[in-house]
Amino acid sequence: MDKTAPFPIVVLISGNGSNLQAIIDAKLPIEIKAVISNRSNAYGLERARKAHIPTEIIDHTQFSNRDTFDEALAACIKKYQPKLIVLAGFMRILGEKFIHQFEGKIINLHPSLLPKYPGLRTHEQAIQNKDCLHGCTVHYVTADLDAGPIIRQASLVVADDDTPESLQAKVHELEHRLLPESIRDIIRGQ
Ligand code: GRF
Repeated sequence: MDKTAPFPIVVLISGNGSNLQAIIDAKLPIEIKAVISNRSNAYGLERARKAHIPTEIIDHTQFSNRDTFDEALAACIKKYQPKLIVLAGFMRILGEKFIHQFEGKIINLHPSLLPKYPGLRTHEQAIQNKDCLHGCTVHYVTADLDAGPIIRQASLVVADDDTPESLQAKVHELEHRLLPESIRDIIRGQ
């Protein structure tokens, strides 16, 4: 294998794409082959276009069920032959069949210190439970939601006056370092 060739990745997004931006700005030895969004109005698509990265939209509302959406997404990803699929704010749950096809090659960024708080509303839960520490996790995706092997985590101390909104902003800053570092780890261990 040519270890000097840029590592081919595909990034899946649903929204703002600030973590996509962090990957682009980190100047990693990667080639982002495509950015794929399930929402046509995701601002992350604009970020990709500005960086001259091919974009694709697979609009989940155009599919009658999850399986057909997953199949279209898988076919789209395969065109680009990535070694890594990065879920960076991709807000769809992927089915088992999809995950098994790419097992070991999909990573997800999650805004909590897993195994605490899989799923949604992580910042609210950290505040409600009066947690001292909160943070984010990059992990491999397996068929169990937000439960695959952890690659890296980053944490912060929750302040007395933190709100879900302030925590979200702080966690976002951590994420912007954590995700590129995790991708770097994977490339080094390839
Ligand atoms: C991040 O907080 C990530 O943890 C969660 O979705 C958010 C995406 O933010 N899964 P952005 O679109 O990268 O700005």
